[in-house]
Amino acid sequence: MNIADVKKIAVVGSGAMGHGIAQVCAQAGYTVAMQDIKDEFLERGMAGIRESLDFLVGKGKIPADQAKDILENLLQPTTDLAAAVSDAQVVIEAVPEIMDLKKSVFKNVSDLAPADAILATNTSTMSISEIATAVENPERFLGMHFFNPVNRMKLVEIIKGDKSTDENADLLVEITQKIGKIPVKVLKDRPGFIVNRISAPNQALLNAILDEGKIPPQELDAAMRKTGMPMGPFELADFVGLDVFAHTLDYYAKTLSPEFAPGRVIKEKIDKGDLGMKTGQGIFAWENGKAVIDTSKETTDITPMELLAIQLNEAVRVYKEGIAASVEDIDAGVVHGMKAFAGPFTICANVEPSMLTASLEKLHDRFGLSIFKPEPEVADGSFKNFGK
Ligand SMILES: NC(=O)c1ccc[n+]([C@@H]2O[C@H](COP(=O)([O-])OP(=O)(O)OC[C@H]3O[C@@H](n4cnc5c(N)ncnc54)[C@H](O)[C@@H]3O)[C@@H](O)[C@H]2O)c1
Repeated sequence: MNIADVKKIAVVGSGAMGHGIAQVCAQAGYTVAMQDIKDEFLERGMAGIRESLDFLVGKGKIPADQAKDILENLLQPTTDLAAAVSDAQVVIEAVPEIMDLKKSVFKNVSDLAPADAILATNTSTMSISEIATAVENPERFLGMHFFNPVNRMKLVEIIKGDKSTDENADLLVEITQKIGKIPVKVLKDRPGFIVNRISAPNQALLNAILDEGKIPPQELDAAMRKTGMPMGPFELADFVGLDVFAHTLDYYAKTLSPEFAPGRVIKEKIDKGDLGMKTGQGIFAWENGKAVIDTSKETTDITPMELLAIQLNEAVRVYKEGIAASVEDIDAGVVHGMKAFAGPFTICANVEPSMLTASLEKLHDRFGLSIFKPEPEVADGSFKNFGK
C-alpha cells in the first residue's frame, strides 16, 4: 500500500484523543469513521469537533464550506466496528489505557479490517509489541502517539514494535505529515517513548524537592516561568492532576528505575483528595481554573540550567539506547511535544560540559538519586558530536 491508496481512516474511541484525531484526519480530506460504544459518547465527540471547527472558521483558518463538508460528509460516527473498519486502510485506536481492552479491540479490528490495513495505537504507556500480539500480521502494527490537545499539538511519535516493518512505519510517517502533524520515529518500544521519557527525571526531581521540603514550589515555578515556560512545572503537575502525575511516576518506577516512585508529599496529598486543579487544591490552591501562585520570589537554590542538564542527560540516554534515529529527532520531539523553544541538544551545543556535569553532580549528591548521574558523553562533551 502507498499513501495514494489511503482514502478512509477509522478511529476507535471518540474521547479526549479520539475525537481530536478524527478531526485532524478529516481536515486533511480523509473519510473518517469514528467509532465508540455508545451514541452519547459519539455525540460528545462530535460536539467537540463542531466547537473546534467553529473556532477555526471564526478565526479564518479554514473556510466555512470545508467545516460543513467535514461535519456532513467526511466524518462518519458509528457504534458499528465492522462498518468503521472493514473498508479502512488505516485504523487508529484511542480507547482507555487498559491492556486487555486494547487487545480485545485489536483482536476484533484484526478480524474485521482488510489484512493489509495499518493498525495503530495511541497508547501513551503500553508496550506496542504486546498489544500487537492480538493481531494477525503484526508487521503492520505501530504506535501512533498524539499529544493533547490533538488539534493544537503538532507532534506525533511513530513507534515501531518488535515486528513492525520500516515500510509500514514510513507510510504512517507520510500519513502523519499529510494530516499536518510532525512525525518523529521511535525506533524502539521503550517506556515513555522519546518525549515523555526525557521529561521523566525532571518529574522525579519535583518529587524529591517536595519531599525535601526546602524549596517552596512557587519559587521554582517563578524561576522556570522566567525562561518562557507558560506554566511552572509544579503548576503543570497540578493542572494534569497529582493522581495522574503519581501514576506516571509509578509506571516509570516499575519500568525504568525504582527511584521514580512517588514520594511522601504527593501520596499524602492524593490521600487527602488534593489532586490539583480538578479538586481546587493540590500543590497550590486553584480558583476559577487558575492556580493561586505568588511568583514574586524566585529560588536560586535549583536553577533552570540544572533542569536543562537533567533533560539533556536523559536525552543522551535515549540516543545511546537507539530509541531515536538522531539528535534532531529528539530536539524536534521536545519542541513540538512540549512546546519548548528549542531542544536540549540545540541549547546545550553552546554550554560548557563542566557546567552540565557540575549541575548533575550537585543534584545527585543532594537527592541521592543515581538517575541524575552524568552520562560520560555529557561529562566529556562528546554528546555534541552525536551523529557527526
Ligand atoms: N488524554 C491524554 O492526554 C492522552 C495523550 C496521549 C495519549 N493518550 C492515550 O489515548 C488513549 C485514549 O485516551 P483518552 O484520554 O482519549 O481517553 P477517554 O477516556 O477520553 O476516551 C476513551 C474513549 O474510548 C471509548 N471506548 C471505551 N471502550 C471502547 C471500545 N471497546 N470500543 C470503542 N470505544 C471504546 C470510551 O467510550 C471513550 O469515549 C489512551 O490510550 C491514552 O493513554 C491520552
